[in-house]
Amino acid sequence: MISFTLNKEKVSYDVDPNMPLLYVLRDVAQKTGTKFGCGAGQCGACTVHVDGTPIRSCLTPVSAIADKSITTIEGLADGEKLHPVQQAWVDNNVPQCGYCQSGQIMSAVALLAENASPSEADIETYMQGNICRCGTYPRIKKAIQQAAVQMQEVK
Ligand code: FES
Ligand code: FES
Repeated sequence: MISFTLNKEKVSYDVDPNMPLLYVLRDVAQKTGTKFGCGAGQCGACTVHVDGTPIRSCLTPVSAIADKSITTIEGLADGEKLHPVQQAWVDNNVPQCGYCQSGQIMSAVALLAENASPSEADIETYMQGNICRCGTYPRIKKAIQQAAVQMQEVK
């Protein structure tokens, strides 16, 4: 039995400790916003936060996150109120097919937690592990810049 906190709720699942966290999230916890892209740590589609740090859930055995706090895309909003990064994504019509976007948003949230006012180069460097086959990078950058400004104003 593996216990952890998922989007602020305590959960326990009777699963193989070697099962990738991604499979537990999608197939057991039914949190399907986190996507399977490459399954090899190369694309970022499966990005979630463990105690606030972004990780590739496709490469993380669920045993490694026992008793930790996991946040997925489903856990970012505050009730009906979107996280400022999600709102900036909506405002800038960022997604095309959308497949990579939950991973992009999770990385962007982690970036802004580390660096409240990133330069374009900071954004490019931090986000380079999140691949978008639709090429939405310019809109991703714009949305992160907008979210950074909005989050600074709220402070
Ligand atoms: S699915 Fe995990 S990095 Fe691609
Ligand atoms: S929006 Fe299609 S892969 Fe990124």
